[in-house]
Amino acid sequence: MCGIVGIIEKNSSVSPLIHEALKRLEYRGYDSAGIATIHQNSICIKKDKGKIDEIHQKLDLDSLPGRIGIGHTRWATHGLPSKINAHPHLDCTKKIAVVHNGIIENFLELREDLERRHRFESETDTEVIPHLIEEIILKTRCDLYTATRKALQKIRGTYAIVVIYVEEPNVLVCARNESPLVIGIGKNANYCASDITALLPFTKKIALLNDGEIAAINYDKIHVETINGEVVVKPEIYDISWSPEMAQKGGYPHFMLKEIHEQPHALTGTLLIRPEIIDQVARALNDSKKLYITAAGTSNHAGLAGKYMFSKLSALQSQAIISSEFQESTTNLIDQDTTILAISQSGETADTLNAVRFAKNNGAKIISVTNVMGSTISRLSDLTLYTQAGPEIGVAATKTFIVQLASLALISLQIAEIRGVLESREVDQLREGLMQTPKIVEKTLKKEESLVRDIAYEYAYKPNFLFLGRGISTTTAMEGSLKLKEIAYIHSEAYPAGESKHGPIALIEPGFPVVFITPPDETHEKIIGNIMEVKARGAKIISIAEQNDHDIKKLSDKIISIPPTPTPFSPITYIVPLQLLAYYIATKRGFDPDKPRNLAKSVTVL
Ligand code: G6P
Repeated sequence: MCGIVGIIEKNSSVSPLIHEALKRLEYRGYDSAGIATIHQNSICIKKDKGKIDEIHQKLDLDSLPGRIGIGHTRWATHGLPSKINAHPHLDCTKKIAVVHNGIIENFLELREDLERRHRFESETDTEVIPHLIEEIILKTRCDLYTATRKALQKIRGTYAIVVIYVEEPNVLVCARNESPLVIGIGKNANYCASDITALLPFTKKIALLNDGEIAAINYDKIHVETINGEVVVKPEIYDISWSPEMAQKGGYPHFMLKEIHEQPHALTGTLLIRPEIIDQVARALNDSKKLYITAAGTSNHAGLAGKYMFSKLSALQSQAIISSEFQESTTNLIDQDTTILAISQSGETADTLNAVRFAKNNGAKIISVTNVMGSTISRLSDLTLYTQAGPEIGVAATKTFIVQLASLALISLQIAEIRGVLESREVDQLREGLMQTPKIVEKTLKKEESLVRDIAYEYAYKPNFLFLGRGISTTTAMEGSLKLKEIAYIHSEAYPAGESKHGPIALIEPGFPVVFITPPDETHEKIIGNIMEVKARGAKIISIAEQNDHDIKKLSDKIISIPPTPTPFSPITYIVPLQLLAYYIATKRGFDPDKPRNLAKSVTVL
C-alpha cells in the first residue's frame, strides 16, 4: 500500500514537514521509510528498515537540508523490507529520486532491458522508474516533467509517484493511476500526498488528481495534464473541514481506542446527513432491477448487514458480494439494469475499485458510501453518500464501520417509506430508535469497558475463539472475529450459530471461548438452543445481550449488557464490546493495535 509525500517550500527546509506527513501516513505501511531532498546540487537521502520513529531515532530525518523533498513509508510488495528496498529510489547518476505506491506490472520486462545499461540496487519494481526517466532525459534532453510522462507511458500497472531531479530543484513531478494521490495548496508552499490527513497540518485546500494525470508542482503554482493525451486539466479544489487534531491521539494510548470512543460523535454526525441525500440514494437503489452490494474487509460486514436491513425493513432484494470475488461471481450478470452499492471507508481499496470499474464498464450504475471526500470511489460513482466519521487512522476499522451501518439503516428506512413497506408511524419509531444509538454506544462504553477489559485479560491467551450469531448478528459475529484476528493474532472463526452444529462444534472442548451475539430479535429463542449445544461440550460462553436478559445471563459465563436497541440496528451497538475485547486482548499480549503485522489500512493492490 505505502504512503508517499512530496513538499516544496519557498523559504524553509522541508524534511521535518515530510517526516510529520509520513507519521500520518504510517497506517498505510510501516516496514521501512525514507526521505530524499535536494540541497546544493545533490540528492540527500536517509532511509532504513523499521518504523518511522525507529528510523528517526537512528538517522535524524529532520536534519536533511533542502526546500524540496519526497518521502515514503512502505508496505512491501516486491522485495523484503530492507534498507536497500526502502524508498526513495535513485537512478544511476544519483540525480533523480522517486517514491512510489502501487505495483508496476511490466517491471520485469522493463528491468531486463534497462539492466543492460543501468545498475539496479534494489529488488523493487519501483526502481525501474528513476532509470527510465534518467535514460529519457539523457537521450532527448527534455525536462523532468516530459521525461516522467514518457516513462509512465511505458509503464503498466498502478502507481502514485513523486519525482525530484537535482537539475530542476524548483519542481516536484507527481502522477497517479489507480493509487491515491492528492495535491495540497499552501502559502509559498505546495504539497502532494497519498491522502488528505497527511496534509492537514499544512493546508486544508486540496486539489484532486484523477487517474491518468500528471502534475508539475512549484511552490507557487500547479500545472496538471493527462499523461497520455497531454490535455491541460483544471483540478477540482476542495476545502477540507477535518482539523489536524482529528488525526492525533488526543490523550489515548492508541488511535484505535480513541476511535472507538469517538463512535457516539461519529454516529451523531452521520445520522444528521441531509435527508435529501438519503432520499436520493434510497430512490436510486429502489429503482434498480438488480442490486449488488460490494465491499472488502470490515466494510463487507457492513454491506452484509445492509443486505439484512434491505430485506427486513424495505423488502428490497439485494446480493452482497465481497469485492475480490465480485467479477467472478457476476460474470454475465451485470448490465444497464444493475445498480452497485459499493462501500469503502477509504474509497481507495483496489478490490472494491476493481469491482466497481468492472460493473461500470458493463453499464451498471454506481452508488457509493465512503468516508473520504474526493476519494477514487466517489469519482467513479454516479452518487456518493459521505459518512461523517472524521479521519480514521487505526488500521482496524471501528468508527467507520458503525457509521456505514448507520447510513445503511437510514437508507433502508427511507426505501421502506418510499415503497410503503412500513407504515409512516413505524418508520418514525424506528428512526427515533436509530437516533438513540449514539447515546446507547456512549452508555455501553461508560458502563461496560472495564468489564470487557477484565474479560479480555482473562481470555487473552486462549489460542482460538468462535463468534456466533443468527440473522443480522451473524455480521456482528464476523466483524468481532475479524477484529480479534487482525490485531490480537488469535485464530478465530465466525459462523451463523445455526450452522455451528454442521462443523465448528467439533472444535469445542472444555474451556473453548465462544462469543454469542444475542439481541432480543426473532433469532433469540433459537440461539439459546445453540448456546446450550456448545455449553454442553464445555465451552466458555461470553454473551453480548440486552440488559436484563435473564435467560442469556443464566447460560453465560460472562455477559456484557447493551441498552435496548431497535433490533434490525443491533450491529451498531453490539459491535462495540467486541471492538474493545479485541483491543484489550491485543494490548494485553503486547501488540500495537494501530499497526497490526502484515496489514495496512488502505489496500491498494489486488
Ligand atoms: C483493509 C483494512 C480493513 C478494511 C479493508 C477495506 O484490509 O485493514 O480495516 O476494512 O481494508 O477498506 P475500505 O477502506 O475499503 O473500507
